[in-house]
Amino acid sequence: MSDVSTTTAPAVEGSTDGGSASETTSFDAALRRSRQIETDLAKDASGYRMLTGDRPTGRLHIGHYFGSLANRVRLQDLGVDSWILIADYQVITDRDGVGPIRERVLSLLVDYLAVGLDPARSTIFAHSAVPALNQLLLPFLSLVTDSELRRNPTVKSELAASQRPMSGLMLTYPVHQAADILFCKANVVPVGKDQLPHLEQTRVVARRFDEAFGRVDPAHPVFPQPDALLSEAPNILGTDGTKMSKSRGNSIEIGMTADATAKLVKKAVTDSDRHITYDPQNRPEVANLLLLAALCTGRTPQSWAEEIGDGGSGRLKAVVTEAVNSTFAPIRARRAELEADPGHLIEVLAAGNARADEVADATLDEVRRAMGMAYDLP
Ligand code: TRP
Repeated sequence: MSDVSTTTAPAVEGSTDGGSASETTSFDAALRRSRQIETDLAKDASGYRMLTGDRPTGRLHIGHYFGSLANRVRLQDLGVDSWILIADYQVITDRDGVGPIRERVLSLLVDYLAVGLDPARSTIFAHSAVPALNQLLLPFLSLVTDSELRRNPTVKSELAASQRPMSGLMLTYPVHQAADILFCKANVVPVGKDQLPHLEQTRVVARRFDEAFGRVDPAHPVFPQPDALLSEAPNILGTDGTKMSKSRGNSIEIGMTADATAKLVKKAVTDSDRHITYDPQNRPEVANLLLLAALCTGRTPQSWAEEIGDGGSGRLKAVVTEAVNSTFAPIRARRAELEADPGHLIEVLAAGNARADEVADATLDEVRRAMGMAYDLP
């Protein structure tokens, strides 16, 4: 893999409006690398290790499914060595307390397994269970500056949304995320555009570690500089046409019943034009429903619009309900089976944690050696 980045400062600067020149350039470079890796991967997935993850804050919805879960399963099935992180410590970056964390961790795991992540090929773990991963924070924190962290656009927008003062954990969570990625030396990270600043920060940490502490093997830096795999999947909105989110009551959860799905879709916002057309600019809510039907059925939104035609929003909603329910029926059935066997879930998580622990210990040993702190090691 080539590495085109040679800067020593984070390439993503602190603007949240996405407008600055360096941000555009950095995004374009990340997108180019991402596309190149996709081409490579399809030919030969060996040599790639991916890590990505989610915060256990609630149930996953079909926006998550089409935006990221389906892509993870695709990468796993291409033969990429896959690591999936349940980012439980990150839950407390922007809220008081952990909430019903155990329930949420297990529910996330159920979603993962139900959509087809296979614990034999994907290591699923929680970072709270991997002490050596978290210890990487100490040397990593020495490599970043306070102002660099303060201008991270993702931290800034999460801080604004949380309406709380900045906590030490919130400020430093991009560095924690670097530890999540680097402890297992992942070189590809499938993420949305909003996570790019953290990827840039991770690359900077990897590079500065090499400059500051050196190597164990002179031919290779201790840490690779990972690349983002930018999803080009369309962004599904909620049933009211705004961002799908639990708190808005507009999200179709993966684990919802067929009836609850039908009720939610029935309440979906459309418009007064009876003739259905696919026009994302002028008819965003109708377009979103058509897109959803299209994603579920492997057809284009235009072809659904033509077929529905004068059937109006009633017909459109019936089509969407049927498409979502039949696509998710097998996943939901599998979900129910998994939920009925919590012992199995705990075993899967314990095995993933143990594997992550082993890899994290080996990396931490290498870090100690590079830093001259491996007093007990030969
Ligand atoms: N910060 C990510 C989110 O909010 C979750 C996450 C934690 C993550 N550690 C990660 C994603 C490492 C990719 C790689 O969604």
